[in-house]
This record gives sequence, C-alpha cells and structure tokens, in this order.
Amino acid sequence: MSLDSPSIALVGAGAMGGALVRGWIEAVRKGGGLTLTVVEPNFDPELERELDAVGAVLNPPDPGPVDVVVLAVKPQTFAAAAEATRKFVGPDTRVLSIMAGVTIDTLCRELNATRVIRSVPNTPARIGRGVTAYVASPACTEEDRALIEQLLEPLGTVEPIAAERLMDVVTAVSGSGPAYVFLLAEVLAAAAEQEGLDKDTAMRLASRTVAGAGALMLETGETASTLRKQVTSPGGTTEAALDVLASADGLGPLLRRAVSAAAQRSRDLGKR
Ligand SMILES: NC(=O)c1ccc[n+]([C@@H]2O[C@H](COP(=O)([O-])OP(=O)(O)OC[C@H]3O[C@@H](n4cnc5c(N)ncnc54)[C@H](OP(=O)(O)O)[C@@H]3O)[C@@H](O)[C@H]2O)c1
Repeated sequence: MSLDSPSIALVGAGAMGGALVRGWIEAVRKGGGLTLTVVEPNFDPELERELDAVGAVLNPPDPGPVDVVVLAVKPQTFAAAAEATRKFVGPDTRVLSIMAGVTIDTLCRELNATRVIRSVPNTPARIGRGVTAYVASPACTEEDRALIEQLLEPLGTVEPIAAERLMDVVTAVSGSGPAYVFLLAEVLAAAAEQEGLDKDTAMRLASRTVAGAGALMLETGETASTLRKQVTSPGGTTEAALDVLASADGLGPLLRRAVSAAAQRSRDLGKR
C-alpha cells in the first residue's frame, strides 16, 4: 500500500502505536506522503529519523483538526489523553481507537466526534502478524472504512465486525486468544517433561510445534481441520491423543467455557 498524504495525530506511540508508525513509514516509501503529529512522552528517535528520511512531515506547528486521530494509549490513560486530543478533532475527523474496552459512545462523547472506529488488535500485531477486528459508528462512510483498514494494515489482517456488542466476543477470541496458544505450549511442554524429556528440550519442542503449526496454517491457506486430518492416521499416535482431546470433557467444552468467561468479563468491564 501507499499513503494518500493523510494528516494523522497519533496519541500514544508505545508497542502498538510504534508498530503502526513503522508500517506507515513503509507505506510512504511506496508512494504518497504523511503529516504526522505524535503525542507521546517517549517517542522512539529511530522512528523520528525514519519519518524524516521518507519525507513525512512530523509534528507540524499548529496542526489543528486532522484527517485521522489514532488513540493508542492504555485505556486507563484515556481520560487524561482526551483533553489533549480534542484539538485535533473537527467535523471531518475520523477517530480510530485501538484501546481495549472503550466504547464508541464514550469516544464520541469525550472527543466530540461522530466518525469513530473502535478496533481490537492482538499481540502478534507487534510483528505485523496480528488480526485486528473493528466496528465503525453509523456516521462513518465507506471511504472512512477503507482509509482506516489501510491504516491498520501494518498490524496484520483486518476484519470488519457488524455490531459493537460482538466486540466482547472478539476480545475473548482474537484479543485474548494468543494467551490461550501460549498456555497450550506451556502445558504441552509440561506433559513432555512428565513423560521424561528435560525441561529445556520439552519447551523447545512444544513452542516450535505451536509456532510451526500456526505458520503452516497461514502459509498453506489450508483450514485447521484439513491440516489436522492430514496428520491423523487411523489407529496412529495422533489419533490416540485426539480421542482424549475431543472427548465430551475435552478441549471443545473447555474452550467454550474459557471464551464465554472472557466475553462475560469484557461485558462487565464495559459497564463500569
Ligand atoms: N499490546 C497488545 O497486545 C494490545 C492488544 C490489544 C489492544 N491493545 C491496546 O492498545 C493500546 C496500546 O497498547 P500498547 O501495548 O501499545 O501500550 P504501551 O506500549 O504502553 O503504549 C502506550 C504509550 O502511550 C504513552 N502515553 C501515556 N500517557 C499518555 C498521554 N496522556 N498522551 C500520550 N501518550 C501517552 C505511554 O508512555 P509511557 O510509557 O511513558 O506511559 C506509552 O508509550 C492499549 O489501549 C491496549 O488496550 C494492546
């Protein structure tokens, strides 16, 4: 992608905000331009140098209302950051939030905005391999959505979601999901240790297996179910393990309970 010279105010440029800026720099290298105002106490000087090198305008004097405000601070910092953000918001400004749990209503109210996009990225976004789901306020146009999808691309794939109430499910699946996969690597390693492998070998085998299986799914484009069937010979070792995992009290019901608990927690936090 290239960038069609938008003016952006980025509020918070830590892990996620920094990943976005790195992607935007690559986009500007391919064409277009960028005028970026960064509100961040510790902006990475390397990113400043790279922005300068690609000819982006960084921190123009008196930026006024911008095309897009991107909020990438921690949710608990939002109240403090909102004050400093309002001056960037005009009638045509789109507000893109990646803050967990902050609703479209709150964003509209606190920032005096109408064209608001709330998104949920996940940790692999830090290396451009995440998935970011988003929902747009009714005032957003098709062009707004296209622009926001383009700006989120550096974090990985982007998925539109039909209704804001589903963001609790998104949070429980893709937002929190990487932790479930890390736990899978941990418990697989613990099981390997119990069967006699030393701790370090067990962890290496388990984590490379999880990473390799994920990469295979991504790179072949095959479904999880097809790939699982490909490695399961009738009467073999994998089938013996899957019989346990797919049993009535196996992985399926366990994950349904886990996802349901996470979605409920997300709903409860949203009510505070
Ligand atoms: N990391 C993830 O995997 C992940 C996943 C899904 C969603 N998110 C969401 O993404 C958002 C950002 O997460 P992150 O991991 O990038 O956090 P982060 O690394 O802590 O980045 C936030 C940045 O904002 C800065 N900041 C603090 N107060 C500010 C203010 N008033 N104005 C401007 N900047 C301020 C922080 O500076 P100091 O460090 O100096 O305070 C920090 O550099 C969060 O809302 C989180 O819910 C993150």
